[in-house]
Amino acid sequence: MCLVVVVVYSLTLLLPLGQASLPLVINTWPFKDATGAAWGALQSGGSVLDAVEKGCARCEADQCDGSVGYGGSPDENGETTLDAMIMNGDTMEVGAVADLRRIKNAVGVARAVMERTTHTMLVGESASLFAENMGFTAEDLTTNKSLNIFSEWLKGNCQPNYRKNVFPDPSAHCGPYKPRATVRDKQMRRHANVNSHDTIGMIAIDQAGHVAAGTSTNGLTHKVPGRVGDSPIAGAGAYADSSVGGAAATGDGDVMMRFLPSYLAVEQMRAGADPSTACKTAISRIKRHYADFFGAIICANTTGHYGAACNKVAGFSTFFYMVSNPETDKPALLSVDCF
Ligand code: GLY
Repeated sequence: MCLVVVVVYSLTLLLPLGQASLPLVINTWPFKDATGAAWGALQSGGSVLDAVEKGCARCEADQCDGSVGYGGSPDENGETTLDAMIMNGDTMEVGAVADLRRIKNAVGVARAVMERTTHTMLVGESASLFAENMGFTAEDLTTNKSLNIFSEWLKGNCQPNYRKNVFPDPSAHCGPYKPRATVRDKQMRRHANVNSHDTIGMIAIDQAGHVAAGTSTNGLTHKVPGRVGDSPIAGAGAYADSSVGGAAATGDGDVMMRFLPSYLAVEQMRAGADPSTACKTAISRIKRHYADFFGAIICANTTGHYGAACNKVAGFSTFFYMVSNPETDKPALLSVDCF
């Protein structure tokens, strides 16, 4: 997955880290075509919301590295479900969908939630029905690839899975599971890692300093059906405030959503921190409690400065992200060393 991709892309680094300019598009991982789609939207007169929607939608259509869009991360039933959000930093409106089924364009549905309801988030079957009513096409999100991932998992006694304190023993057996009579406090934690998922998170800022941010993901492979990660949660997956800037996160959402890292990073920037320092503070806060969590965050402010940070764990020592601004000829790949 992305670790293979980054070795190839790392030969094409274009931009000195942190060179500020507006407008700006920044997104997690080497999802270059998504950056290009967002940048193209801004260049053709679109708003920052258009940019974030088009950028994330491009990843959904292309499936990026398999962690975004249809045909990836099948849950315990073999089904792919999607989480996405979009946030308008001018109005502080948010639209989000979680556990969305049978609709490919999750970020588009998230924008429809924001613009065609007074709600913030819709989930599950009801979100899919809303999407159909809004004109989105319902289709099967399963592919041969996701079917294969699912059947291999079944063959391997459903390992890994994310159950605890149940029987039969989830570390050796498939379900159905029932609660075990006693809860063992010191049971091994089984959280997501660099091999099980990531997300597109994107921030767009225009010349006038309008900020939007958004995310899209198919979540965690082999998740318990109904599981929702950090990506559609405002302040966790992403946050935007046009008086400050924006942030977007990627990684183990089950852990990260407990700390609202995107909100924390934006608040750090509001208090005067530069984007790199703000990103580091958000990662440090999580590290204090979960030293081995897998995760990264991107941050940008309304002067066009940006940065990123990530938690160093086995197999993840460098985080790659994309930037487009007037200084880059085309979407530029950047990296940051995890700490
Ligand atoms: N960060 C994506 C997820 O945990 O679902």
